[in-house]
Amino acid sequence: MYKINANYQKLPGSYLFSTIAKKVAAFQEANPEKEIIRLGIGDVTKPLSKSVIDALHKSVDEMADAATFRGYAPDLGYDFLRNAICENDYKKRGCDISPDEIFVSDGAKSDSGNIQELFAEDNKIAVCDPVYPVYVDSNVMSGRCGTYDMNSEKWSDIIYMPTTSENGFVPEFPKETPDIIYLCFPNNPTGTTITKSQLQEWVDYANKNGCVIIYDAAYEAYISEDDVAHSIYECEGARTCAIEIRSFSKNAGFTGVRLGFTVVPKDLKCGDVSLRDMWARRHGTKFNGAPYIIQRAGEAIYSEAGQREVREMVGYYMNNAKTIRSGLEEAGYEVYGGVNAPYIWLKTPNNMTSWEFFDYLLENANVVGTPGSGFGPSGEHYFRLTAFGTLENSEKALERIKKL
Ligand code: MLT
Repeated sequence: MYKINANYQKLPGSYLFSTIAKKVAAFQEANPEKEIIRLGIGDVTKPLSKSVIDALHKSVDEMADAATFRGYAPDLGYDFLRNAICENDYKKRGCDISPDEIFVSDGAKSDSGNIQELFAEDNKIAVCDPVYPVYVDSNVMSGRCGTYDMNSEKWSDIIYMPTTSENGFVPEFPKETPDIIYLCFPNNPTGTTITKSQLQEWVDYANKNGCVIIYDAAYEAYISEDDVAHSIYECEGARTCAIEIRSFSKNAGFTGVRLGFTVVPKDLKCGDVSLRDMWARRHGTKFNGAPYIIQRAGEAIYSEAGQREVREMVGYYMNNAKTIRSGLEEAGYEVYGGVNAPYIWLKTPNNMTSWEFFDYLLENANVVGTPGSGFGPSGEHYFRLTAFGTLENSEKALERIKKL
């Protein structure tokens, strides 16, 4: 008789955004006349840009011709894309990264869920609290987190690093030394970030203590302030302690076409063992590459026109962020984020729990957001709104919220 991976049974409830989708669907069914504005999941609303669409059309035509047809992609991704990433995302920012340290994938979510496979089961992970749930859940699935306590809403073997308004959303070094540290800046869900010198302190800490940092930089395109690093490799010493995960979803709207990449530097070694070689082995075994046409589409964002379009798209969403942030402030809310990230993180009014506020907002303003507690216990009494909606809907949502 086969046995299942019992770790799955330990996971409480369903994935956060699936729970929200079910709740919203039930509300809509009961209230078909209500026009719901969805500012919950961070999914983009603007269409793919012209350069991207042109590249897609062109590469689709190539696939129709025997002379230019492509089958399986190279394990690490096509050279044309890895070279463009290396040049634009790293070399131009003074980061010492080479194309053979870049692994193209079908998105940051898969990579951030899969990367834990490189590490032994008894490694201890540290996460910011609140946190993007994938880091925690994927480690639970691999048996790395101990047991879940319903009261504290914490896993016994995870080190939680609270990031709240009390510490300015900057994680403090934990009392117990972790093996693996997940950091996401600009941060999902809080929409806040840390300075480059604060990130440097984490790199120094990791090198000193033999930790690896898994750095999720999916929102780097939204950085508007100068003293914030776009890549962890801007910090000295990051090559020996950090893996970086990036996405094409948030900067170029690829949520529906799927493209991302992970950087594993050759200097990242556990004893003599290269993590870069381990990830290459894993990639070769378990992944057959992102589709050619999507990699061509990804390459297109690095052209001059593509970069301009990325700036326009990011600017559009950041204008939404400003609209939401200032609207909430006018309505008397305590608001964070939205300056270097497309998420606005607000304190719930009247000490409501995050889920109480979720229901209140859905029922009274027909606006969907994400309850902060869904991202971890320190997210309780906070609430996230995304700037990835349309401007019209962002404005309309704020009008409704102001009337509450
Ligand atoms: C979110 O809403 O947190 C994001 O859309 C999740 C994701 O990018 O997977």
